[in-house]
Amino acid sequence: MARQPLVMGNWKLNGSKAFTAALIHDLKRELIGVSGCNVAIAPPVMYLAAAENELTGSEIALGAQNVDIHAQGAFTGDISAEMLKEFGAKYIIIGHSERRTYHHESDAFIAKKFGVLKATGMIPVLCIGETEAENEAGQTEVVVARQIDAVINTLGVDAFLGAVIAYEPIWAIGTGKSATPSQAQAIHAFIRRHIAEKSATVAEQVIIQYGGSVNDSNAAELFAQPDIDGALVGGASLKAPAFATIVKAAANAKK
Ligand code: 13P
Repeated sequence: MARQPLVMGNWKLNGSKAFTAALIHDLKRELIGVSGCNVAIAPPVMYLAAAENELTGSEIALGAQNVDIHAQGAFTGDISAEMLKEFGAKYIIIGHSERRTYHHESDAFIAKKFGVLKATGMIPVLCIGETEAENEAGQTEVVVARQIDAVINTLGVDAFLGAVIAYEPIWAIGTGKSATPSQAQAIHAFIRRHIAEKSATVAEQVIIQYGGSVNDSNAAELFAQPDIDGALVGGASLKAPAFATIVKAAANAKK
């Protein structure tokens, strides 16, 4: 069974009320008639309500960039999975390298978030990836296997049924230096094989996105790779024409 790719925009800490309305308006127009690719956007959580409103009647799904592990209580500043769900968010990014780095999020903590999202009926988008130093030391496979095993060892491999993994080499994020299609394909194939050691069925259906300097000129070549099922897009998701070109490249990818 062919996997339907997912192209998701991670707006990070960018935007405003006016920007959110304008970008979604433009995206809806650019994506009229495009099928064969799931599309989602993750604006800052402040703009979820506005985005939900703008997306009424659209095929573009809503997402968020983070979630807390608690359902409610004395957790100042945190936002629960149920709250995100109430605003229509479906795909929730967890374990982004920026959160691992700036907020010291551990593999174990991220695995808990994964479990909370599954329990709430939402789709985790688990970001994994190695630093430049780890890459140069030949540690990439060890690092991504560890990041995936944190979920498998606590929730079981079936947790990846219907879930999304985003392989984002840290050295490629926001640097303009994307992994080459063959570099990315090799790691994506490794990730799928690693999951297949526990369950071939789960491995076959799991969506593995690539992330890191994806743009309108390099997307098609990346998506032609057999194990690259779309992208998690940062900078280029802030411009409707570039993001739409990436979505169309995924929709038209021949495997
Ligand atoms: P860029 O596309 O800006 O490199 O960001 C990638 C990313 O971190 C998406 O989550």
